Amino acid sequence: MHLPDFNVAKDRTKKENIYIDLKENYSNIFAGKKYFLRTYGCQMNVHDSEAIRNYLETLGFINTENIEEANLVVLNTCAIRENAKDKVFGFLGKCKYLKKNRDDFKIVLAGCMSEQPDVIEEIQKKHKYVDIIIGTHNLFDLPKLLSEHFKKQEIEVYSNSDEIIEGMNYSRDSKITAWVNIMYGCDKFCTYCIVPYTRGRERSRKLESIVKEVSDLKERGYKEVTLLGQNVNAYGKDIGETFSHLLECVAKTGIDRIRFVTSHPWNFTDEMINIIAKYKNIMPYIHLPIQSGNNEILRRMNRRYTREEYLELFKKMKEKIPGVAITTDIIVGFPNESEEAFLDTLDIVKKCEFDGAYTFIYSEREGTPAAKMEDSIPMAEKEERLQRLNELVNFYANKSNQKLLNKVVDVLILGKSEKDSTKLYGYTDTMKLVNVQGPEEIIGNIVSVKINEAKSFSLDGEYIGN
Ligand code: SAH
Ligand code: SF4
Ligand code: F3S
Repeated sequence: MHLPDFNVAKDRTKKENIYIDLKENYSNIFAGKKYFLRTYGCQMNVHDSEAIRNYLETLGFINTENIEEANLVVLNTCAIRENAKDKVFGFLGKCKYLKKNRDDFKIVLAGCMSEQPDVIEEIQKKHKYVDIIIGTHNLFDLPKLLSEHFKKQEIEVYSNSDEIIEGMNYSRDSKITAWVNIMYGCDKFCTYCIVPYTRGRERSRKLESIVKEVSDLKERGYKEVTLLGQNVNAYGKDIGETFSHLLECVAKTGIDRIRFVTSHPWNFTDEMINIIAKYKNIMPYIHLPIQSGNNEILRRMNRRYTREEYLELFKKMKEKIPGVAITTDIIVGFPNESEEAFLDTLDIVKKCEFDGAYTFIYSEREGTPAAKMEDSIPMAEKEERLQRLNELVNFYANKSNQKLLNKVVDVLILGKSEKDSTKLYGYTDTMKLVNVQGPEEIIGNIVSVKINEAKSFSLDGEYIGN
């Protein structure tokens, strides 16, 4: 499909793909208006926000960090756990207050919460001040919705359809690292998870479009791309492609660094491992969520692997990919998780010695199968388990960082450190955060850094050359 150079929006009134020039059609409505954008959730949302930003700025909106002077507030929401949702409703309260005496203040709810029927209903009943609800599949429609809404007054709901979005433009947050969607949605239906309902079925982008996007990014000076999908190793099933083939094609663009999130342990093939090991520009870093170390819990989660299969895959990765770092996600307190089952999780953490782990207390999501499961484990016990788990996880994160002490490692320098402005920060190819003593000119480069201090969550080092 050939796309024109200007930013495009799909015209839904026509059956075929017709693209309209946003500047020509809409900018007279929005020029000079200010927008405030807040993003919650995972990398998918962070990347979607780059598309939203691009739309808004093409339409003539100007970014503001001060919500009080905004004419448009866009909340790109997350629904993964109850506290993510609570944060958004908390922020909506503030928006309602700001909107009280103003008719030029519009509120858009985007992202995963906009795909949840119960949320839509709640907003339509109790939060009538929200102007537009736009789902994760409908970003293409944002300009049209906005222009229509700025003339009308009722809540506009535009959510739920399955589109593959090609040719999207992004106002990328960074000039060094870039997110690249390779697929949308998830078909795994883990019983606790809302994502298959908010992001729809797995849809893969065309291999050539992805490779072209990466080549273009490389030409524009980007050093690193992250291939994004809810389970990237399922890439291509719907279009007769494979993730290993995609990885190889992306590696051949010659871009300095390639990583990908998230991998599902199910169906992670030997070929994928071989390709990762073969190409130097594919980073030796794999985020491989395990969720639980107990087979019965894994079965009830519908994770499609056993602890033995996970361990076998883990071992294979460690053997075949030199220096690979593996991180994971773990849920504690899944419905009726016994103490013994939890001990299996601690045990697998000890066996794997993960480089890092994101740990969560199970959060019930309405409409998912796990929400109907009986649960007699008190919250206090779940919290206590989380603490025990975190202690162990931190111990191994520290242990893996200690291995780098006094070593020289390659670090992609991303900018000035937020905590200490005399330092820079960046990441190793195993995604370890390093605070670096060095000159500002090295920002955007991969440089050699000597590590002189190792902590649980970061390393300190000094720049010693390119
Ligand atoms: N697609 C990725 C992860 C997406 S969500 C994968 O399958 O690995 C990120 C993490 O949030 C999950 O790995 C899981 O650990 C956690 N999570 C998802 N749903 C949750 C829930 N209902 N309660 C608590 N944690 C949850
Ligand atoms: Fe959710 Fe499972 Fe899909 Fe990950 S693989 S997004 S946890 S359903
Ligand atoms: Fe949240 Fe949606 Fe990502 S629910 S974690 S923003 S896919």
